[in-house]
Amino acid sequence: MLIVLLLICIAVLTLIYLNGIYNENYWRKRGVAFYTKNKTLGVFWDFLIKRRALFEYLHDIYKEYPNEPAVGIGSILTPTLYVRDPLNIQHVLATDFNSFSHRGFEPNQDDLLAGNILFLNGAKWKLVRQKMTPLFTSVKLKSMYYIMDKSAKDFVDYLKENPKLRKGDPFTTLSTFCSAAICASVFGVTTKSVFDSPFLDVAQRSTNASLKRNIEFAIANLSEPLFKLLNIQIFKEFESFFITAIKQVIHQRKAENVKKYDFADICVSLQNQGAMKDTDSGLEVEPTDELLAAQAFFFLIAGVEPTASAMFATLMEVGKHPEVQDRLQKEIDETFDKHDNEISYDVVANMEYLDMVMSEAMRLNPAIGFLTRKCVEDTVLPTGNIKVNKGTNIMIPIYELHHDSKYHPDPEVFNPERFSAENKNNILDITYMPFGKGNRNCVGMRFAQLQAKSGLIYLLHNFSFNTNVLAGGVKYRKEQIQVRVTNVDIELIPRR
Ligand code: HEM
Repeated sequence: MLIVLLLICIAVLTLIYLNGIYNENYWRKRGVAFYTKNKTLGVFWDFLIKRRALFEYLHDIYKEYPNEPAVGIGSILTPTLYVRDPLNIQHVLATDFNSFSHRGFEPNQDDLLAGNILFLNGAKWKLVRQKMTPLFTSVKLKSMYYIMDKSAKDFVDYLKENPKLRKGDPFTTLSTFCSAAICASVFGVTTKSVFDSPFLDVAQRSTNASLKRNIEFAIANLSEPLFKLLNIQIFKEFESFFITAIKQVIHQRKAENVKKYDFADICVSLQNQGAMKDTDSGLEVEPTDELLAAQAFFFLIAGVEPTASAMFATLMEVGKHPEVQDRLQKEIDETFDKHDNEISYDVVANMEYLDMVMSEAMRLNPAIGFLTRKCVEDTVLPTGNIKVNKGTNIMIPIYELHHDSKYHPDPEVFNPERFSAENKNNILDITYMPFGKGNRNCVGMRFAQLQAKSGLIYLLHNFSFNTNVLAGGVKYRKEQIQVRVTNVDIELIPRR
């Protein structure tokens, strides 16, 4: 028995070794540098067994290969390329979009909530994205702003009534605002904003990087066949609760027959129009409750985690830089005075300094650390003339580009002036992308900016912020794609 076990161990180790050699040769033959620390599982090994966020391991590679346009990474049998040169990145995200239109993740069929825009691919992605885009036009955002404004006002009252929430790490507290605002935008406003909603719990649990979730995520990246074979369903546990909730919302909206300018309105109108058709491919998709629930589910996740992250980053930086805080509060207070305390979509859009401060906070602390794509047609990347075959997984830095002195002088210095009207055109477009780039960029970008800004305006009008970085300095929580700052407390001091 012992001998059999020993032989199995030797066979497995030999296979791992040979797989590593294969991966190394695969990229070396293409003239591409290879990350040799773990030739078989690449960055995913360290991510699984150690405590850092995945983007931190990629950042190490970024610094280790400063002159390489791309670096091959071990990923069992899926060729994986970490693309670090801006021209190549531009090529993947935009110029050669047709070759890289895939997100790099293929959910299993029965994982209904994973059928959302982020994870859909091909003609179905195109069709659903097209049909959801009207939710994010200026006209729609303008008519939806009242929802965010109300959530922000209610949030300030909530903080005033609960002084214990005004100390410590405010990430969870900010998430409660974000969930109230996104839930109201998706499901419709109620008379009072809901800050302890069960949807917040869903949003938090679905992005929580537990060991099980990290293993599933690693398998999804390392081997699609294994992911399919194990039939891993990443959002199954939320399906019944969430789909039932959306069904109720749609049903009620149809019965009420009123317009609230939110996501539920879009659902009703899509269902009334019948099958959605893509004229190019001929694909027809029914806007079922399940398909619409999957979109709402991702909007909820995106409206909570990364949006809270953007707000946290802004308040953290503002709380460290009193001169920036003073100037920003001056802009906000003057705006309140000028508009008799009535803040509208247009008023927010014209707050130039707020935009500069938030943009710079998101440069230093982007909510998402890196992007992923999969090659769907053989092609060549221009810098280094790198042949990329169909099936190759691509990873693209965000955090690393934002912190590279080649593109952002004195990158660790918080300086909102980088984003002033005169200066912002000096930033090479592709080296600043907190919301991604190209045809698969964040469809909710303007919604998210508006939501975060509406919260920040009321917060900074009513409180001052004092940031306290705890002993050991800023740290990052172990996360799959997010950049989640920890070890920082922010105190809220009432101003009025
Ligand atoms: C500050 C908050 C947010 C940040 C930082 C953020 C960032 C991102 C990033 C980096 C991507 C990937 C883009 C790419 O691959 O090029 C993305 C995709 C996406 N985001 Fe956001 N996001 C935020 C909020 C939102 C909100 C509130 C919504 C919806 C209400 C949303 C909806 C989406 C969707 C649907 C996609 C997938 C797009 C596609 O694959 O076509 N996001 N987001």
